[in-house]
Order: sequence, then C-alpha cells, then structure tokens
Amino acid sequence: MNESIKGRVRTYVVRLDEQMNGGIPHGHVVLISGNPGTYKSSFAYNVLYHNAKEQNKRGLYISFQQSRESLEDQFTSLNIPYEDVEERITIVDVGYLRQTTKPHPEDWIDVFKRYVDNIRATSHYDLLVVDSLTTLEIISQVDDKRETLFHLFEWLRGFKNLTSLLIVERPFKEEIMYEEEFLADGIIYLSKERVGRMDTQRFLSIDKMRATKHNTSYFTLIFNEGRFQVTRVLRE
Ligand SMILES: Nc1ncnc2c1ncn2[C@@H]1O[C@H](COP(=O)(O)OP(=O)(O)O)[C@@H](O)[C@H]1O
Ligand SMILES: [Mg+2]
Repeated sequence: MNESIKGRVRTYVVRLDEQMNGGIPHGHVVLISGNPGTYKSSFAYNVLYHNAKEQNKRGLYISFQQSRESLEDQFTSLNIPYEDVEERITIVDVGYLRQTTKPHPEDWIDVFKRYVDNIRATSHYDLLVVDSLTTLEIISQVDDKRETLFHLFEWLRGFKNLTSLLIVERPFKEEIMYEEEFLADGIIYLSKERVGRMDTQRFLSIDKMRATKHNTSYFTLIFNEGRFQVTRVLRE
C-alpha cells in the first residue's frame, strides 16, 4: 500500500484509484458532492488519513459547521482515529470564529483565505479539505457566485502542490448542475438510494476528473473494517 503514483493523490479507497489513472492529479480542486449522510466528511478525511499514514503527507481540514469534537467522534467510530495522525493532520473548526467575529457577510471568503494563509505560513500542507464549500458560500452571501468561485478556485490552484477537496452539500433529488461543478477540476459524487422497500445502498461515481481517463460508472460504496471500498454495480 506504500507506493505512490507520480503526480497523483491516492484516495486509498479500495479499487477506486485504478478507475482514475491512480488517483487525483496533484493540484486539482475536487468537489466531494452529495446528499446528507453520504460519507462526504468521512470520505474526505479518509483521504487525508491514509495519505498521512502511508506517505507522510500533511493535511489541513477546515470545518465550518461540525465541531472538531463531533468530527473526531465520527472518525473514531469509523476506525480511522484522529489520534493516529494528529502530527500530520490539522483539524480547524472555524465555527467558533463564526460566533466570536462578525465581519460583514461578504468577507467570509477573505476570512477563509487569511486563515489558510496564516496556517500555511507556519507549516506546509499537501492536502486541504473544506467542509463545506456550501456553508462558506451561504455565510458569504456571494452575489456573483461564478465569478467569486472562479477566483477562489484559481487562488487554491495557485498553491504549489496543494490538492483541495471541497465538500458540497446537495439537497435530495436535485438534478441541476451548480456553478462550482463547471469550475472544479473534478467531482466525486456520493449518494444513497432506496433498494427495495427496506434498504438503502450507498453509491459513488467519478463525475469529472480533468486530465484523467476515468471510469464514469456507478459503484457501490461500502465501509468495512476501517476501509472504504467500491464495487462495480451489476444491474440488469
Ligand atoms: N461506525 C460506523 N460504520 C459505518 N458507518 C458509520 C459509522 N458511524 C457512522 N456511520 C455513517 O456515517 C454517516 C455520516 O457520515 P458523514 O461523513 O458525516 O456524512 P456527510 O458528511 O455526508 O453528512 C452516518 O449517517 C452513518 O450512516
Ligand atoms: Mg459532513
């Protein structure tokens, strides 16, 4: 599990990296998009966790809504505990900043950028998770979403060798495309569906990955013994 594919960030999801030339290209801005409870936060953190453990990569996880404690509880329950990687991963919970500072709403993207700049001034990071871009957009109350996100994504791409995973919360049953989906370099879409009358099943698809020949099929996503795994869906 130790080998790294040059120029790619492995997800360490069993069978997923080989579906996209070995992983996410370095420097990409990738959306982890899905409905509530589809493992978005866990999936993104799982990428940081395994990259920290297997390749000593450093990760920065910025949360705008869920507290650090609640995230850590979730990760411990999934058997990917934060204490294993706390020297290489920083989880910052910006929630308290939201309560203590009240900048003009439109300043939140600037607050975020200053925050990232300050943290990066003291330490190098290879991977960034923003949980979630949707919350950042809401609290920023941006007028021209396409323009603002274009500049935000370009700013992220400007960091040498920083790969960004931005979580996007999608309401249930919405098929429309969002501005960020046109602007991002990649989209990993997580979903869950009713199967029969009693069960739900979780799915993953790579909807977009620039510079990569990738599989666009639906995969089932399961979490088993500390690992996410995908399996090709066999239908009809
Ligand atoms: N120990 C566990 N093993 C497997 N799945 C779990 C475990 N604990 C919680 N979950 C699942 O994880 C989900 C939450 O994952 P999370 O990453 O927070 O989702 P999201 O960020 O998409 O809302 C819960 O809805 C639950 O189904
Ligand atoms: Mg979440």
